[in-house]
Amino acid sequence: MSFSAIRCCSPLSHNECGGGSAPSLAEKSIRFILFRYLRFTVLAREMVTVPARIVTIANQKGGTGKTTLTMNLAAGFARRGRTLVLDADPQRSATQWGKLAPEGRAYSVAVIPVADDLEREVERFRDYYRFILVDCPPTLETDTVHRAMVAADVVLIPVLPSPVDLWASLRIAHAVEDAKQRNRGLHARLLLNQLEARNALSQSMQQALAEFDIPALKGTVQRRAAYRNAALEGLSIYELARRPKPAVAEIDAIIEEVLML
Ligand SMILES: Nc1ncnc2c1ncn2[C@@H]1O[C@H](COP(=O)(O)OP(=O)(O)O)[C@@H](O)[C@H]1O
Ligand SMILES: [Mg+2]
Repeated sequence: MSFSAIRCCSPLSHNECGGGSAPSLAEKSIRFILFRYLRFTVLAREMVTVPARIVTIANQKGGTGKTTLTMNLAAGFARRGRTLVLDADPQRSATQWGKLAPEGRAYSVAVIPVADDLEREVERFRDYYRFILVDCPPTLETDTVHRAMVAADVVLIPVLPSPVDLWASLRIAHAVEDAKQRNRGLHARLLLNQLEARNALSQSMQQALAEFDIPALKGTVQRRAAYRNAALEGLSIYELARRPKPAVAEIDAIIEEVLML
C-alpha cells in the first residue's frame, strides 16, 4: 500500500481522498481500524530489535585457525544477517585481512579493532547487528579471552588434529570454566580444523579429544588451499573468483550447527 493510500485511510485525512459524499460510519470505522493496525505494525517492527548473537573464536595456542575461521564464518553469517567482526587480537590479523582486498573488490564484513573493554564494545554494537564474531589473541595472560567469552553466546575453539596440538590447547578448557562462572549460558565447542581429506580421526586423537570437557562440533574444516588463497587475497571463500564449493559447504554446515545451539 502506498503512503498516499495510507494517508487516505487515516481518519484525519478523509478530505484528501477525493470523491463527493461523506464516508459512512462503517467506512470510517474500517479506515480507523486499518490506520491503527498499520501504525501498530510499524511501531512493533521498530521496537523489536533482536540483540546480536555473539560468537567468540578463541584458543590460547597460535596457528590453530582462529582468524581464518573468524573471517570465513563471518562472511557466511553475513549471508544470513548483518554481521560484524571485532578484532580483539593486538596482532590485528583480522583487521589487516579486511584491508587487503585488491582494487574494486572487498571483504564483505566490517572489521573493527578493539583495544580494551570488549564488553562495552559488544554492547555498543549489539542492537545493530544480527551476528558479532570476536577474533581472540593467542594468550591467556591478559583478560581479553575471558572478557570475550563472558560477552559471548557461543565460543568456538579451533583445534588441530594432532594429540600434541590438542594437549597444548587444554588450558582453554579451564578458561571456559572460569567464564561460565559469570556467563552460565555460554556454549563452548571444539572445532576441528585442518583435517586431512579422507583421514579418519586417529585413536590417540579421539582419546585426546575425550580429555576435554568440551564437546566438538559435528562439522569439521579440512585443510584446503582455498583458505590460504582467501587470506592472501583479503577475501572470504565465498568471494573467491572460483568459489570453492566444498569449503563453502563445510563453513555453511558449521554455521547451521552454531545457530542450533
Ligand atoms: N583449514 C585450513 N586449511 C588450510 N590452511 C589453513 C586452514 N586454517 C588455517 N590455515 C592456515 O594456518 C595458518 C594459521 O591460521 P590463523 O587463522 O592465522 O591461525 P590463528 O589466528 O589461530 O593464529 C594460516 O597460514 C592459515 O592460512
Ligand atoms: Mg589470529
